[in-house]
Amino acid sequence: MVIKKICCIGAGYVGGPTCSVMALKCPHITVTVVDKSKDRIAQWNSDKLPIYEPGLDEVVAECRGRNLFFSTDIETAIKEADLIFISVNTPTKTFGNGKGRAADLKYVEGAARMIAEMASGDKIVVEKSTVPVRAAESILNILRANNKPGVSYQILSNPEFLAEGTAIDDLLKADRVLIGGEDTPEGHAAVEKLCWVYEHWISRCNIITTNTWSSELSKLAANAFLAQRISSINSLSAVCEATGADISEVARAVGLDSRIGSKFLQASVGFGGSCFQKDILNLVYICECLNLPEVAAYWQQVIDMNEYQKSRFSAKVIESLFNTVSDKQITILGFAFKKDTGDTRESPAIHVATTLLDEGAKLHIYDPKVEPSQIIDDLTHLSVTEEPENVKNSVTIHSDPYAATMGTHAIILCTEWDEFVMLDYERIYKGMMKPAHIFDGRKILDHDRLIKIGFQVQTIGKRLARPLLTRMWGSPHQA
Ligand code: NAI
Repeated sequence: MVIKKICCIGAGYVGGPTCSVMALKCPHITVTVVDKSKDRIAQWNSDKLPIYEPGLDEVVAECRGRNLFFSTDIETAIKEADLIFISVNTPTKTFGNGKGRAADLKYVEGAARMIAEMASGDKIVVEKSTVPVRAAESILNILRANNKPGVSYQILSNPEFLAEGTAIDDLLKADRVLIGGEDTPEGHAAVEKLCWVYEHWISRCNIITTNTWSSELSKLAANAFLAQRISSINSLSAVCEATGADISEVARAVGLDSRIGSKFLQASVGFGGSCFQKDILNLVYICECLNLPEVAAYWQQVIDMNEYQKSRFSAKVIESLFNTVSDKQITILGFAFKKDTGDTRESPAIHVATTLLDEGAKLHIYDPKVEPSQIIDDLTHLSVTEEPENVKNSVTIHSDPYAATMGTHAIILCTEWDEFVMLDYERIYKGMMKPAHIFDGRKILDHDRLIKIGFQVQTIGKRLARPLLTRMWGSPHQA
């Protein structure tokens, strides 16, 4: 069987870009991305795609209607496909056994049941979603328990390593593609077929094949390692603030050791995104289930440190504003969890904004890509507030950063958008209440220049000249 038709279940941040690039590089393969959400599919078929990702518009424009299709007709797409990616969401469970830690596999199970119901002929089913180790076994159980005559399945694990904001580049020039499969002749044959698809643009030496469980665990491990680096540097940023060392200098000195490397050593308000926290919690849960409490505790610390960093930053803002933000006008620049994406899942900005709203602040929020309705949804979600109406009355969303800062007491920079570096801070300073504060949660601004303009500046991992009033009002342990 040669792969002629691919179906991807789940038109999200992973399914959409991954299949767009696959369609671009394999023009003779028909790629159909399906989703149960009519809205999402309608957006994929419109001029305004449902996700913002640099370079994505161009790729979709080239392939859509040629060999790339977005559809809600899941049945036909499954029936016709030789190879089916499952790329649905795998959030943390919010209730029941494993609540708050285990991955909720209900969407994966739903996709597997649809395949079982609709499939005909031989199918290669590929786990693209990030799943717990041995999830492929559960998928196979569902498929085989519902097997029909003339249908056979091979399950592969092919986790996705793209990062939002650089997804297209990451897909085009992947460091590696990982494919796990069953150690049988049929399993090897299925692995070879998926290798063949990727070999249209990825060199064979960058395609790693492993057993299924190694592949599933490698994805969790990779995210755990990445998040661990951020928590490690963030933990040291607290030491820097307490001692006068500068975390950027420390990161540079440490990162120049070729065994350590310089990437992912940027201290900040904390990591966000839909994956790091959920995947580490999942890893922790798996370790607990395997009766490996020491390993579980080790990885849990990465999450705890991230929570500490977000809380520490929010506390610093409040303390610097004379220990009260009640009725103060505060600007939040950036709401996405990182630059070049409109995704706000687990964004540190939500934590900061929620803390300030609880303390009675009035917020003015600007983000170049996040939809206003998304910001309101995030801040009024029942998991963060019991008073959604109060929140709505205390938040103004702006479409212009200058309007967002006009008349406010403080700016909190939560996302490292390039445009924030280029803003006219003299103009902003003139329009703000005095003393005008800036809290740079991403360490991207020119702090010396801001201080010269007159701002009271605070950042992560470095003591800057502190304002006189704050010294008088600040808590005694803060030198
Ligand atoms: P997403 O939430 O953006 O998209 C998932 C889509 O699946 C949704 O549009 C949903 O409607 C659809 N869906 C769910 N069940 C369905 C069903 N039975 N039939 C049809 N459609 C269904 O999720 P995202 O971010 O794309 O993540 C997908 C998976 O990829 C997750 O397991 C995630 O951990 C993993 N991943 C995500 C990365 C990211 O940067 N977002 C990076 C690498 C992996």
